[in-house]
Amino acid sequence: MKRYKLSPSILSADFNRLGYDIECVEKAGAEYLHVDVMDGSFVPSISFGMPVIRSIRKKSSLFFDVHLMIVNPERYIRTFSDCGADGITFHLEAAKDVKRVISLIRDTGSRVGISISPETPVSALTDEIITDVDMVLIMTVRPGFGGQKYMEECTGKIRELRKRADVLKPELDIEVDGGINKDTIMTVLEAGANVIVMGSSVFNGDIAENIAYYKKILKKARG
Ligand code: DX5
Ligand code: ZN
Repeated sequence: MKRYKLSPSILSADFNRLGYDIECVEKAGAEYLHVDVMDGSFVPSISFGMPVIRSIRKKSSLFFDVHLMIVNPERYIRTFSDCGADGITFHLEAAKDVKRVISLIRDTGSRVGISISPETPVSALTDEIITDVDMVLIMTVRPGFGGQKYMEECTGKIRELRKRADVLKPELDIEVDGGINKDTIMTVLEAGANVIVMGSSVFNGDIAENIAYYKKILKKARG
């Protein structure tokens, strides 16, 4: 399980100079760009949507890791793919028919991700779901806002999922999102996460320096 990736979340970028911030992320060598789409219904906040993604797509060749925090995600899978998503992650809690959403994403050619919020146990993911997706995103804060504190009680969920994946699908990516910083990154890596989302800890301060710091940690983890 050595495919470690950094996925900076543009939710914490400076939207006055979004293009520039993304360029910094790309130059600094992050592998993914995490794009948080919020609808004001599944989560209290509203972030941004299709026009923004379409626009930044023209400027960046990073892997767009789109995290849909929206109800009834099946309505928009094709649209987000057309806007330039490379991977689409939806919430288990938000989908009426999980199997259908997985197959809709698969049909677009994007990588398929499913996310669970802190209150949803890993047991809500059936063996079939784990086998069918490319990535599971374990939220380590309540979805909706950047800059929150890592919820320690989620560490056990990462470990539990990695154990199941070792049996069912060793190549499964486990992404973590929320409150990852200098103090918490080792915890999630040791528990078995390999795709690391970071908003405030990448975009607050010097983006290039921050990414260089975390890339070093991921390099060490790779061994
Ligand atoms: C929260 C979003 C996160 C957020 C993470 O609902 O899904 O991607 O941007 O921000 P930090 O890293 O600041 O917790
Ligand atoms: Zn996110």
